[in-house]
Amino acid sequence: MADSGTEAVDRGMDKIGWARAHMDILEGIRARFKKELPFRGKTLSLVLHVEAKTAALALALKAGGADVHLAASNPLTTDDQVVAGLLSQGIDTLAKKGESAQDYQHGIDAMLAADPDIIIDDGADLVAAALQRGRTVIGSTEETTTGVVRLRAMEKDGKLRWPAIDVNDATMKHLFDNRYGTGQSTLDGIFTATNLTIAGRTAVVAGYGWCGKGVASRLRGLGAEVIVTEVDPAKAVEARLEGFRVLPMLDAVKEADLIVTVTGCLDVLTRKHFAVMKDGCLLANSGHFDVEVNTKDLARLAVRHRKVRPMVEEFTFRDGRKAYLLAEGRLVNLSAGQGHPVEIMDMSFALQALSAEYLVTSGKKLKPGVHAVPQELDDQVASAALQARGIKIDRLSETQKRYLSSWQEGT
Ligand code: NAI
Repeated sequence: MADSGTEAVDRGMDKIGWARAHMDILEGIRARFKKELPFRGKTLSLVLHVEAKTAALALALKAGGADVHLAASNPLTTDDQVVAGLLSQGIDTLAKKGESAQDYQHGIDAMLAADPDIIIDDGADLVAAALQRGRTVIGSTEETTTGVVRLRAMEKDGKLRWPAIDVNDATMKHLFDNRYGTGQSTLDGIFTATNLTIAGRTAVVAGYGWCGKGVASRLRGLGAEVIVTEVDPAKAVEARLEGFRVLPMLDAVKEADLIVTVTGCLDVLTRKHFAVMKDGCLLANSGHFDVEVNTKDLARLAVRHRKVRPMVEEFTFRDGRKAYLLAEGRLVNLSAGQGHPVEIMDMSFALQALSAEYLVTSGKKLKPGVHAVPQELDDQVASAALQARGIKIDRLSETQKRYLSSWQEGT
């Protein structure tokens, strides 16, 4: 039964409250924002996965005086109760789980109609739309690898007209979010979608980048035999020396009980792979766009197609083999699972909040193009993350500092 309006608000606020209670870094920033109001008079449009951790970010920005607008960065990753909670807090939120392509576009249009000073993007759809329509903002921030790849292409073509902060490549983001966040939450999505065992299965991970490393290590930890596929020779060697088997995908699919794609590339699994794939194989994607598993090929090759669980579609091939596609080939960790663990998003969204503040204070001095998160902001989040975990570390003595800097200076 669907939630009544008030029930949805209450449940959404409970989810947001739980996230905030475990986001010490962001909450510290929110308390400072509340006093200093760095975003007073500024409009911020956010296109992100609309769930509880994102709500904590939106509320921190609002506490800093911003007029905040939020829409979905993916049609399947919205938590409708969180949307109800956010609306109750005066955050203009346009998102619905399972929304149509038109609704998704409507969300992007609404974010532009708000006339933002700052854009916070995940995948660069809002930035692309803003540029296409000749809009100008002080600057934007980008959350994910695929978004940064797109921004760099726009920069190269001379199309990027403002400074875009690459949050993804900050140390305190990709080292933890992409690796441990995607590692844990991808498995959460697979468990929730299938209720099946990982132990004893042969699992193939396509792409051994930051996300792939996390997914492969967590699958191994749960008892899967893990095979990695790659296109980058160095990454392939790295996977091998980490103890994984490395194979071309065409060979790997013949043994696979589960395949997870995390490449950011298209057509990782196509017709030729489906033609020789092991019977009963589970197909999951954790890359940003739903292009890694070619679902059109899958549908064309299948003689029968039906939904067997809320997030599992069964495709039967002519010879009787079956393949199971999870979450329509969209980000499985957010579509079927709960997304990254809260403490991981605390670090990523602390960087987003500080980068947005940096754009307000210094954005007008920055040249158009992709910019790194300033080192001091990355360091600030690292220190706060240690503090949140009650961890103390050693400090260099003055003699040690002098010793190290003498080497750096080559004396
Ligand atoms: P990355 O650039 O570190 O790694 C991607 C790896 O895939 C590279 O090693 C590359 O050589 C490899 N690759 C590319 N095409 C391939 C192909 N056809 N077959 C096999 N390997 C291939 O990128 P990262 O940070 O690991 O991100 C990967 C994707 O996951 C991106 O789309 C990113 O936006 C997304 N992402 C998803 C998250 C989630 O919550 N599910 C979180 C963070 C990133």
